[in-house]
Amino acid sequence: MKNHLLEICYLIGSVTFILGLKMMGNAKTARKGNLIGAVGMTIAILGTIFLFERKDEMGVVMDYQVPGLIYGLIFGAIALGTIIGWMTAKRVQMTKMPELVSMFNGMGGACAALIGLMEYHHNLGHINALIPIIAGLIIGSVSFSGSIIAFLKLNGTLNKPIRLPAYNIFNNAFMLGVLVLGAWIIYTSPDSTAILYSLFGAAIVYGVLFAIPIGGADMPVVISLLNSFTGLAAAFGGFLYDNKIMLTGGILVGSAGTLLTLAMCKAMNRPLSNVIFGAFGGGAAADDAGASAKGSTKDITANDLAVLMNYSKKVVIVPGYGLAVAQAQHIIHELEMLLEERGVEVKYAIHPVAGRMPGHMNVLLAESNVDYGKLVEMDEINPEFEQTDVVLIVGANDVVNPAAKTNPSSPIYGMPILEVDKAKNIIVNKRSMNAGYAGIENDLFYDPKTSMFFGDAKKALTELVAEIKTL
Ligand code: TAP
Repeated sequence: MKNHLLEICYLIGSVTFILGLKMMGNAKTARKGNLIGAVGMTIAILGTIFLFERKDEMGVVMDYQVPGLIYGLIFGAIALGTIIGWMTAKRVQMTKMPELVSMFNGMGGACAALIGLMEYHHNLGHINALIPIIAGLIIGSVSFSGSIIAFLKLNGTLNKPIRLPAYNIFNNAFMLGVLVLGAWIIYTSPDSTAILYSLFGAAIVYGVLFAIPIGGADMPVVISLLNSFTGLAAAFGGFLYDNKIMLTGGILVGSAGTLLTLAMCKAMNRPLSNVIFGAFGGGAAADDAGASAKGSTKDITANDLAVLMNYSKKVVIVPGYGLAVAQAQHIIHELEMLLEERGVEVKYAIHPVAGRMPGHMNVLLAESNVDYGKLVEMDEINPEFEQTDVVLIVGANDVVNPAAKTNPSSPIYGMPILEVDKAKNIIVNKRSMNAGYAGIENDLFYDPKTSMFFGDAKKALTELVAEIKTL
């Protein structure tokens, strides 16, 4: 009876995961979707704790009482994890979200690896059980250490990719070694903790070797890939325990992570192999490329810009990472409303990899209640730049860098960009002439149509809004 109820809990959980994931595809419903998924997960966890019945080898339910101490440990761990997770997620700034995701993902990988370490000795000689155990152990360990490296790269502790000579060949040989050791353990099933821990250690080392040569700008792609690995490791746990919710959840995480990885690569016009084995964002190529930028720039004052924008017919705002750093989403919305009141048509041009995570600009602008209809995707807005009087670029750099189209030696060559150079007037707001995430110069700043509006985005836009109000 209890097992039937548990199956119902798992069914509810699976449905809420799918529903939640679907709702997360739209900024309007994303928050609710997340909550629905979390409720489903809670039902599945509580169901497992209270309704799970142990069966013997014949499938007969055993008379087994879970000791009170075990319940205490489980709920203690849940409470501790909930408090830490809640507090970190509440406090984290939007720009630091990829770091948080990598840390949480690393914890998921570690859990999958621990399951493998724990279950191995209970299943010696059972190849069918050892396959998911060893696969989960290897994938979970790689995901754990790779995510920690990704975290350290994103927070700047490890800010340069470390590439050993012939690292690609070495890494692939190492991975092969890990797989061979794993296969050997499955088939020979040695009763040795030392051998099992050697595999665990080797997989951890491989995770480090895998992530360490990759540039910081590519880390969100790597995190998404590692996220799909963790999903896969959890799905192996589902096979092992014949647990439907672990299986469904793992498969959903695995496939969503894979799709997101591929979508990000497509948006940057780079194959996944180039992200993993190529050099981008902080490497030697990034340091030299784009050095073609030359000539002089011209500045514009808040007053002149206010006049220019006030008498324009159409203004397109390009938000980028700097807008998020400056937390200028509210003031930009105020600017948009002010201009609209004065009969200026205003739109936002959204590049798929603007900021530091997928949908970063959409989430940021949604915070200040910008109308979703005003957020226009890159392919749709590009043909409109020719009829645009003023394009205002706020804290964006790589996503408007013409080197992506014109300089084959640039690390961002081939990445589709917002074609802002077609607009009649280009205004760039940033604090200095510093490069963006890819570490390359931007010829756009030297375009005769471009004027630099220097300053922190929030401060500069506040000044601009004040000037427009005086007109
Ligand atoms: P970036 O190229 O990183 O440029 C951001 C610019 O904002 C910087 O040049 C910086 O210049 C300026 N800035 C920083 N703080 C500011 C502030 N307080 N006020 C005003 N400006 C400020 O940003 P982007 O154009 O959004 O491009 C995103 C990059 O991240 C791309 O290279 C993309 O491939 C990469 N990436 C994104 C993702 C996702 S999914 N979004 C994933 C992987 C990689 P100053 O220092 O001079 O102010």
